[in-house]
Order: sequence, then structure tokens, then C-alpha cells
Amino acid sequence: MRKTTLITGGAGYLGSHTALQLIEAGHSVLILDNLCNSSREAVARLELLSHSHVDFIEGDIRDAALLDEIFSTYAIDAVLHFAGLKAVAQSVRRPMDYYANNVFGTLNLCQAMARAHVFNLVFSSSATVYGEPARMPIVEEHGTGKPANPYGRSKLMIEELLSDLALADSRWNIAVLRYFNPIGAHQSGLIGEAPSGRPNNLLPCLTEVASGQRAALTVYGNDYPTVDGTCIRDYIHVLDLAEGHLKALQVLQGDEHGLHVWNLGSGTGYSVLQIISAFEDVTGLRIPYRFAARRAGDVAECRADASKAGRELGWRAQRELTQMLIDSWRWQTSNPWGYRPQPAPLLAVGS
Ligand code: NAD
Ligand code: WQD
Repeated sequence: MRKTTLITGGAGYLGSHTALQLIEAGHSVLILDNLCNSSREAVARLELLSHSHVDFIEGDIRDAALLDEIFSTYAIDAVLHFAGLKAVAQSVRRPMDYYANNVFGTLNLCQAMARAHVFNLVFSSSATVYGEPARMPIVEEHGTGKPANPYGRSKLMIEELLSDLALADSRWNIAVLRYFNPIGAHQSGLIGEAPSGRPNNLLPCLTEVASGQRAALTVYGNDYPTVDGTCIRDYIHVLDLAEGHLKALQVLQGDEHGLHVWNLGSGTGYSVLQIISAFEDVTGLRIPYRFAARRAGDVAECRADASKAGRELGWRAQRELTQMLIDSWRWQTSNPWGYRPQPAPLLAVGS
């Protein structure tokens, strides 16, 4: 049977772009997703782009029986684990959902992997585990901090769980990838970020304003100790991020044992106002914005030192900010309703 990579959350934003690259590189993939924040249409678009059938199972990583069935049906030799909830503000309102989905879901997945003797795992972590960083740029060896919300704490708990697992059993090969701020979309405009609810991240909010779905962008805080008072982040193109997963997988499937942590960021920081201005330059549009109070939990600056991934994975982010913004905007303009079909026009009374 052909070796297959299981991609949990593969219908989502980051998982779908990584799935496409894996397929293009000749891997056989199986996507498992409960579609709580994505759509079957994303899988259909993957099929369109890859000119191939994509194996997809609608299901939940918390379902142990389903996982056992998957591992006994397919010859899975590695898991890319993207599935999870990721909305920071929602995690404050519904912490138990985040611990159940993210932490318990990962535990359940690892137990099923161990039962099936599958020990290669790539986990989607986040720069949020660094909390308020003491030094910039952030190096993995600086250690983790205190994440500001249940979402971040769920990621840190998972990292600790995985670290204990790797210490207890040397058969595990685990890559913990700490993403900085992924933006952009595939150059076709066919796949991109399409959250089910209202977005909270900067780029989707910005493109909503640009397309008239939102009146103005709220900029949270203009009194940070930064170049212009607004927060600085390390934005990374989703395709660069996807390439990082292929490199990590290659290394794990080599002779690498234990748990390894790699930052995936570009190393370059941009303030919110710099992003708005660059977006205006790229699109020729004017983005109305207004300043509001700081958003709880935001740090002034968050920027990666990604040299460890450079040395050990042979990876570095290649795509510039302009490319990220062009691709985000192409996705938004080609898919104003995400993967949903265009809403039917309201019929006039009497028609
Ligand atoms: P996403 O919401 O687009 O994708 C996650 C996918 O997981 C969705 O398709 C969702 O339906 C699925 N899912 C959620 N719970 C599930 C469950 N219990 N069982 C099966 N499927 C489930 O999010 P994304 O932006 O693609 O993020 C992917 C991963 O990367 C997440 O773990 C997220 O925490 C992490 N991450 C994302 C970012 C970011 O800014 N996008 C940054 C750092 C880390
Ligand atoms: C970026 C900057 C906002 C929206 C989050 C998670 C992190 C990771 C990536 C998943 C900040 C400002 C935003 C808006 C604004 N996700 N902003 N107006 O907070 O760096 O990281 O996503 O793992 O864990 O915390 O990203 O895009 O929300 O914000 O001014 O409408 O844009 O204050 O300075 P963040 P973001």
C-alpha cells in the first residue's frame, strides 16, 4: 500500500496550502477535518489545482474509533497536525472548547498514532507560546513564556505534552513548528483563508475594509514603543510556511529522533500602519482606519529569528510582503464570500 501523510485540519487555511504542496511533490495525502472552520469546497479546489482525487474524511480528531479505523485502513507514516481552534477572543469566552479540541484532540491523536505505531508528527504551534518576549528577535532557545489567553495556553500545554511523550519514548520524531503571522494565499486565487465567523486577524479585516464589507479598520493602540506606535509583527507567506512543513517532514522521516522546535517566520517586522500603507500601494485603494485602545494580550513586537530552521531544515521564507499582500487581495476579490456561493439576490415584493 502507498505510504500516506495524514493531514488533520487539511481543509483549513494552512493545511490546504500544505496539502497542495505535498501532492505536487508526489506524496499521497489523506485529509481529516470536521469542517468546523472550513468547507468541502476547499477540498474540491485542491482537486482542481492538483488535477487529482484528494482523499478526504469528514471527522473529528477527538473520535478515537474513527482514528483507529483510519490508521488501520491507510498506510499512514506521518501526521501533519493542523486541526484545532484558533480564535483568540473566542478562546477567552469558551476556554473549555479550546482545551477539549486542541489539547484533548492532540492527546487522542497521539494515542491513536502510538497504537498504530506511527511516530512521525509535525505540530502547528504558534509564536503565542513565547508570551511577552524579553528579547527580539525571538530565538527558540529563549524558552517559552506566559501566553496571554486560553488559545495560547492550549498550544503551550500541547508542546509540553509532546515533549514528555518524546522523552518517554524514543520512537517519536516530532517537529513543533512555531508559526509567526501567516498571510497570503495560493497564486491561483482558488484557496485562501476563509474563516466561518467574522475574522479578527489583521489581513482578513483589512481586505474586508478594502472590499467594502467593513467601513473602517480599527487599529488597536498607537502608543506602543515602536517606530509609529502600532504593533510590529513578522508576517510570513502561507506558501513559505507550507514549504517549511515539507522540509520538516523530510528531516523527521530521515534519521531524526526526539522533539525539535523550529520558528517559521520571515525575520522582518512590519507595524500595522506600515501594512496599511503597503496594502494601499499594492492595490491603489485608500483604507480608512481609526485608532482604538490597545487590544488585550497584544505585545508591542513579535519577530522571529528563524536561523535554526535555516541551519537544520535548509528553509527560509522567500516571499516579500508585496507578494503576500497581492496574493491576499487576489484571494479576497476572487472569493468575496470565501468558499460559500454568492448569496441569492433578495426578490422584490410581488415579483
Ligand atoms: P483553520 O481554522 O483554517 O484550520 C484548522 C482546521 O481544523 C479547520 O479546517 C477546522 O475545520 C479543523 N478542525 C478544528 N477542530 C477540529 C477537530 N476537532 N477535528 C477535525 N478537524 C478540526 O486554521 P489555520 O489558520 O489553518 O491554522 C491551522 C493550525 O495552525 C491551527 O492549529 C492553528 O492554531 C495554528 N496556527 C495558526 C496561525 C494562523 O495565524 N493562521 C498561527 C499560528 C498557529
Ligand atoms: C496583528 C496586529 C493587532 C486586527 C494572532 C494570534 C497568534 C497567531 C496569529 C494563531 C496586532 C493588529 C489586528 C485589527 C489591528 N494565531 N490588528 N486591527 O495578534 O499577532 O497573532 O494570529 O496561532 O496566536 O494571537 O495577529 O492579525 O490578530 O494582529 O490593529 O482589526 O494587527 O492589534 O497588533 P496576532 P493579528
